[in-house]
Amino acid sequence: MVEFRKKSVQDIDLAGKTVLIRVDYNVPMKNGVIEEDMRISASLSTIRYVLDQGARKVVLISHLGRPDGAYVPEMSLAPCAQRLGELLPDKVVRFSDMIYGDDARAAVDALPDGGVILMENLRFVPDEEANSEAFAKNIIDATGAEVFVQDGFAVIHRAHASTDAIARLLPSAAGFLVEKEVTSLETAMKDPKRPLLVIVGGAKVSDKQPLIDKFIEIADKIVVGGKIAADGYLSSSPNVYVAEDFAEDGNGTKLDIGPVSTKKIVEMIKEAHTIVWNGTMGMVEDERFAKASFAIAQAMGESNEMTIVGGGDTAGFVEKVLKTNGELTFSLISTGGGASLELLSGKQLPGLEVLQDK
Ligand code: 3PG
Repeated sequence: MVEFRKKSVQDIDLAGKTVLIRVDYNVPMKNGVIEEDMRISASLSTIRYVLDQGARKVVLISHLGRPDGAYVPEMSLAPCAQRLGELLPDKVVRFSDMIYGDDARAAVDALPDGGVILMENLRFVPDEEANSEAFAKNIIDATGAEVFVQDGFAVIHRAHASTDAIARLLPSAAGFLVEKEVTSLETAMKDPKRPLLVIVGGAKVSDKQPLIDKFIEIADKIVVGGKIAADGYLSSSPNVYVAEDFAEDGNGTKLDIGPVSTKKIVEMIKEAHTIVWNGTMGMVEDERFAKASFAIAQAMGESNEMTIVGGGDTAGFVEKVLKTNGELTFSLISTGGGASLELLSGKQLPGLEVLQDK
């Protein structure tokens, strides 16, 4: 594993402090009901660690959806606070419908020591996405935060007030989730156990081309599948394998890669020592076109080598597969869609760069 170059939550003094943790609770939600809570459970180890170190209070901040700076009731984080309470039954977990100002201050003051409070959706205020320093100061002032921990891996590719401005105002460090995601993904890029196989799928070639470009020099083999391949992706590079057969619907639309390609990819997975997968192979919402993705998930989950699933749709698909086959294991199922793709494509992540170096 490559070394983590930023300060970790383990490197800072937390005892007696009010600790502000940026989490990413941007979870799929329908009519106020959380459909999948992977990002909430992924935040627990840092929260528990901070409290175990004797922190006085934990204040959590997050966004949900894209409300564009306006209050949208369906995008309230209140259901996430409730779910967090269920996941931390031994802690007092509260919700504050204000992010700063007197009411927010009163809510944090009323929280008993050792408790956790989640503030309302940051993106209800336009200042969040504007990376406003004044907004960051207001949050610090209302919550009494003395230390900042960045654990919202899925949002660290954004330079917002809660990922950038705030980290400049307080002693700042990375939480366990950020550290695990960054070191796993960077290891695959910089120091992979070879052969390194990268499997790329998904719908938009413009999204995935930077990833292919980055790995063309690094990977021993790159597989291109999904709609990108169905649309006729071409590569002259000898280490790129583009899916060669497809499963079609009744109208001749290619909606999954076919059995010949799937078999070859599964063989490649068996031979690889590091496997990175980003992008499903077909229209996985329809079981008939999820076969290749399922076979890949299964082969990776059965492998004892380093297996990394890039976030977004691919992670969601693998989480579903895990519900029916709990025996499969992965080294990392990334919680970050855009963030993992940007990191793997070699871009700098503002919310990571701003954290203090070791
Ligand atoms: C995500 O789901 O990728 C993150 O929460 C970031 O959300 P955003 O793309 O709306 O900034």
